Amino acid sequence: MTKIITDIETAAEEIRKGNITGLPTETVYGLGADALNDKAVIKIFESKDRPVFNPVIVHIRYAADIEKYSCEIPDIVYDLAEKFSPGPVTFVLKKKNNISDLVTAGNNSVGLRISSNHIFREVLRLAETPIAAPSANRSGRISPTTAEEVLKEMDGKINYILDGGKCEIGIESTVISFLDNGIRILRHGYITKEDIEKVTGKLNDKIKDDIFDPNSTGKISPGMLKIHYAPATPLYKCNEPEMAESITGLKTGILDFGKYQNTKEITFNLYSDLRKLDESGFDMLLYNDIENTGLGAAINDRLKRAGSGEIMLSENSYKIINNTND
Ligand code: TXA
Ligand code: MG
Repeated sequence: MTKIITDIETAAEEIRKGNITGLPTETVYGLGADALNDKAVIKIFESKDRPVFNPVIVHIRYAADIEKYSCEIPDIVYDLAEKFSPGPVTFVLKKKNNISDLVTAGNNSVGLRISSNHIFREVLRLAETPIAAPSANRSGRISPTTAEEVLKEMDGKINYILDGGKCEIGIESTVISFLDNGIRILRHGYITKEDIEKVTGKLNDKIKDDIFDPNSTGKISPGMLKIHYAPATPLYKCNEPEMAESITGLKTGILDFGKYQNTKEITFNLYSDLRKLDESGFDMLLYNDIENTGLGAAINDRLKRAGSGEIMLSENSYKIINNTND
């Protein structure tokens, strides 16, 4: 059975042995494996039920390690790393051959991240290998932000979850691609577009919403899939969530952001609030968008992907407009 532990050496040993283990990072909990051991990496895909076309981020200790696993690195990567690493940002770069196709899902690129979490960094040091780690949820589900939430997702599938308390950020890293001579944000995250532009100058490419093309496996970031990070209870956007229960007759749970001071607090609580509502027996869950600037863009992005669409209310009736994945 799966045990929640606090001994860092046991977790590092598990990685060295070629097993996978739950690990805390500053963003969300990860499911870590030795990135240089294919047999270990396969276990990540199996335990999460993760589609093999979805590449896994490789976690390294220092910016100086970027060149061990990638090549053709533009200088701007080091400028960004100096500002935001260790921290919640992932750099997608052309991969070197020591990174296997399994980790990168057949792409010739690799996502590299330097986590700032001290416990995670200590595991990296003791394991003496880069660690491949996706979020520690079953594929398509909400990322866990506590060891107990990892246990709910992975009970019986892994031996250990290293407890590092609640993740200080609460949503996943910002993923930035430097392929094809461009800079593209593939996934919104805690480091905002505005933060990045302070270093890079204006990024003129709009972050596309619908770049998933099943025929061009690897050309996209599957974190951009329209339906992702989802609770089991249907979640809808709604302009007047408080009105919904009386009009629809459905037992309604509302994600209440009004109780938080700022977007950082919303981010910190977002996934755990969603999980709690999901476990409370509602027929549907509702949220209202927040302002789409700064961290608001990442929050709205996650909500949209977690959601099934929008519910429109009128005096005595309602209409649901479902998201589609096309
Ligand atoms: O904060 C995070 O990034 C967490 C913690 C554990 O580090 N990890 C995480 O991993 O969110 P995962 O696998 O759940 O999401 C990684 C995202 C996916 O959207 C994946 O497609 C994208 O990064 N990605 C990884 N390698 C890539 C590559 N070579 N090219 C394009 N996208 C890549
Ligand atoms: Mg994930």
